[in-house]
Amino acid sequence: MNKANNTKRRQLVVGNWKMNGNQRTNAELLAKVVAGWQGKHNADVAVCPPFPYFQHTLELLASSSIVLGAQSVSEYESGAYTGEVSARMLADWQCRYVIVGHNERRRMQQESDTQVAQKFVAVQREQLVPILCVGESLEQRETGQALAVIHRQLNAVVESVGCDAFEHAVVAYEPVWAVGTGKTATPQQAQEVHHFIRELLGDVGQRVRILYGGSVKANNAAQLFTMTDIDGALLGGASLDAEEFLSICRAADI
Ligand code: 13P
Repeated sequence: MNKANNTKRRQLVVGNWKMNGNQRTNAELLAKVVAGWQGKHNADVAVCPPFPYFQHTLELLASSSIVLGAQSVSEYESGAYTGEVSARMLADWQCRYVIVGHNERRRMQQESDTQVAQKFVAVQREQLVPILCVGESLEQRETGQALAVIHRQLNAVVESVGCDAFEHAVVAYEPVWAVGTGKTATPQQAQEVHHFIRELLGDVGQRVRILYGGSVKANNAAQLFTMTDIDGALLGGASLDAEEFLSICRAADI
């Protein structure tokens, strides 16, 4: 099947900078990215800097169609939650997308499925767009549990908000074993999971954008993007290199 025959899902490329960068490197990176992404495109692009660089990033993106995203958010509205950032604060910063349930937070901050669902709700309450990350570990894949894990992670959110809420959300499939390892899922492996996610979401599944993440680079992006159910990428390492990032954005700009 060819994407041209498919529903009109606009591709999206999101750069998750994780805990990298400083004022100088961010300015250098974004100057090149903004210069290389002028005019009209068929793909949307967002970058998710660490919170201290939000204001700086907004200034650097002022003349650009590239929008701001956040790497995480609190599930609470406000109050005594030291170190946390609320969805309302992100909305106040002209943030558009918010990553929830990234595997690094699920594993390192012990974020549960329930907590991820609460964050998803908090983001949508402020009319921002959650990017819900799901993905299995290597052990889960090797023992044949990949789809069951993804089902469980997705269901935790569906049970809380229903499938219709995905009309205003993005899903990212990030197999844990492919994140930061240089080991990408094959386009077929990714396609199988993306299709599974789309089916689980029923009617809305035809319209929701599902991104692939996990060692996406300039040399494998185009092939991934040819798959019917892959609507773009969630990038880590590749989003810190202007040429690499732009080349992936261009591959999505079809
Ligand atoms: P890498 O592209 O560095 O593998 O990271 C992917 C990721 O975790 C994006 O959120």
